[in-house]
Amino acid sequence: MADWLRDRYSDMERPAADAAYLRNLHPAISAIQSQVEADAAREQEPITDRASARFLAMLVRVSGARQALEIGTNLGYSASWIAGALPSDGLLTCVDISAELLDRARAAWLRGGIDGQIETHCGKALDVLQRLPGPYDFAYIDANKEDYQGYLDAVIDRLRPGGVVAVDNLLWGGQAAKDPEDISQLRETTPLIRAFNRAFLDDPRLDSTIVQIGDGIGVGVTRLG
Ligand SMILES: C[S@@+](CC[C@H](N)C(=O)[O-])C[C@H]1O[C@@H](n2cnc3c(N)ncnc32)[C@H](O)[C@@H]1O
Repeated sequence: MADWLRDRYSDMERPAADAAYLRNLHPAISAIQSQVEADAAREQEPITDRASARFLAMLVRVSGARQALEIGTNLGYSASWIAGALPSDGLLTCVDISAELLDRARAAWLRGGIDGQIETHCGKALDVLQRLPGPYDFAYIDANKEDYQGYLDAVIDRLRPGGVVAVDNLLWGGQAAKDPEDISQLRETTPLIRAFNRAFLDDPRLDSTIVQIGDGIGVGVTRLG
C-alpha cells in the first residue's frame, strides 16, 4: 500500500471527516426531512442516519422498486426518502407499533406532499405482517432488534425474486465490533446483532453484504429460483 494511503487510513479521524465532507457536498435535503431530523434530535428519537437514508433511496431507484415495505417508521424520516424514490405509481407500506408516532409521521408526509404514496399499519410488526402478503420489491427493517431474524424471514417470504432487503443498525453504535471478551461493555442486544449479522451474510436465500454507512446497513438481494 502506498505511504500516503497508509497514513490517510491509519488516521482514525478520517472516516468522520470523510462523512462530514460528503454530507456537505450533497444538495440540501427537503424541508420536511430537515424538520424531522431536528425533531428527532431534540426528542432523542432514533432515526436513520442521513447518509444511510440517501443510500436506501438509491437502492429503491436502482432496483426499480414500485412496492416497498418499511418495518419501524418512527417520525417518518426514512419513509420520506424511500417514498421519494418510488415512481409516481409506487406505494410504501409502513408498519410501526406506535399510533402516536405514525400520526406524527403522516402529518410530516402531508406537509411534504408525499402522503399519497404511503400507507400505514399500526401494531406489532410480526402480527401485522400476517395481513400483508406482498409481494414487495424492496423492504427496510429498522424496528426492535429482538425480532430482526423474524422480520428478515417474513420479508424474504414476501419479496419478489431479485427483490432487495435493507437492514439498519448492524454496527450497533460500535458495539458489534467490540472485543467479544469484554462482556461488561456490551449492551444486552449486542449478541443478537452479532448473531443476526452472521446469519444475514450466510443466508442461502440472499446475496448479501453489510456496508459501513451510518450505523451499518445490511443489503440483501433474494436469489432467483
Ligand atoms: C429506529 S426507529 C425507526 C426509525 C425510522 N425507520 C426512521 O429512520 O425514520 C424504530 C421504530 O420501531 C418501532 N417498533 C419497536 N418495536 C416494534 C414492533 N414490535 N413492531 C413494530 N414496530 C416496532 C418503534 O416504535 C420505533 O418507531
